[in-house]
Amino acid sequence: PAPLKVALLGCGVVGTQVARRLLEHAEELAPRVGTSLELVGIAVRDAAAPREGVTGTPLADLLTDDAESLVDGADVVVEVMGGIEPARSLILRAIEHGASVVTANKALLAQDGPTLYKAADAAGVDLYFEAAVAGAIPIVRPVRESLAGDQVQRVLGIVNGTTNYVLDRMATEGLELEQAVKEAQALGYAEADPTADVEGFDAAAKAAILASLAFHTRVSIDDVAREGITSVTAADVAWAKRTGHTIKLLAIAERNTSDDVAGIQVRVHPALVPDEHPLAGVRGAFNAVFVEAEAAGELMFYGRGAGGAPTASAVLGDLVSVARHRVLGGRGPVESSYAALPVLPADAA
Ligand code: NDP
Ligand code: HSE
Repeated sequence: PAPLKVALLGCGVVGTQVARRLLEHAEELAPRVGTSLELVGIAVRDAAAPREGVTGTPLADLLTDDAESLVDGADVVVEVMGGIEPARSLILRAIEHGASVVTANKALLAQDGPTLYKAADAAGVDLYFEAAVAGAIPIVRPVRESLAGDQVQRVLGIVNGTTNYVLDRMATEGLELEQAVKEAQALGYAEADPTADVEGFDAAAKAAILASLAFHTRVSIDDVAREGITSVTAADVAWAKRTGHTIKLLAIAERNTSDDVAGIQVRVHPALVPDEHPLAGVRGAFNAVFVEAEAAGELMFYGRGAGGAPTASAVLGDLVSVARHRVLGGRGPVESSYAALPVLPADAA
């Protein structure tokens, strides 16, 4: 089959890692997909600005500030620019042109996901978004696909790396919130505007996406009760520690089981977690999500919830999936997926 043309929208913390890994691993990815993935361009606001890890590399030649033309010539569009506009218009444009779409944009999905899902259904193209929830952790696909035959009762966990990092630094180093937020920004965990993290909007967006998938309903960010961590002080964190607790920003989506009101409740707020609970031990920018389902029982997902490379892993996984569908008509993994590496003799270890 002909190579698939991939357009990348955004070359920031996540986009740079996606682009680099796409080029560096092109030869390994091709047999997994069934054809090669050709990165045809990277849209940014300012194509002339110097960029760490990009300027002076082959990626620099791919930069453009004409995102629309880039989208029009692509088979697959990967959106990692963030924000509502122009991301929404560009994704819709891509779908109208018959391109498959991969996005990490939880803010957009939680605000206007149904518009995008409907457009993708109408056009018969894939819209994948594993990276939108909990960074590298595979959680969207397990909830959307693996648990689709079960009855999910509750989804609970830590889904924002920045706030978990901040609370952790406050607890272990006695830092004030502002100082810890600056560190999280420097490490690439925070959103472009870190208010989205510390005020709980980012976690609320992820909670809305997970709740929609888990309960087969439409939950928007406006349906989520939200309280961030801005009122949590170093003294609160120290007091919690003395009493055997850790303060965590939790996202919770659950079925209301009372007889009179049937429905889903979704909320995000700081909580005192007893130190012996597994969530208390989730350090730094890691995330952890528990899912409770009627037949499966309790499941736990854990891993890096933010950062360029971990998020790029989820984005590239989606890219391989949607690209395979284009090549194979949705048949999923094929024999050629296993052809990339030789099997080493058992005694080589
Ligand atoms: P950055 O702010 O680091 O990068 C955004 C990129 O998009 C920049 O290259 C920027 O261009 C480009 N961009 C923004 N607006 C426009 C526009 N109007 N036109 C053209 N280009 C534009 O963001 P991140 O990489 O951190 O995040 C990207 C997405 O991934 C967001 O949706 C975020 O929520 C999500 N995400 C981020 C994670 C993380 O850990 N950082 C984890 C999971 C998801 P320029 O460089 O010229 O300004
Ligand atoms: N700002 C987000 C976080 C990025 O800290 O979790 C990952 O979605």
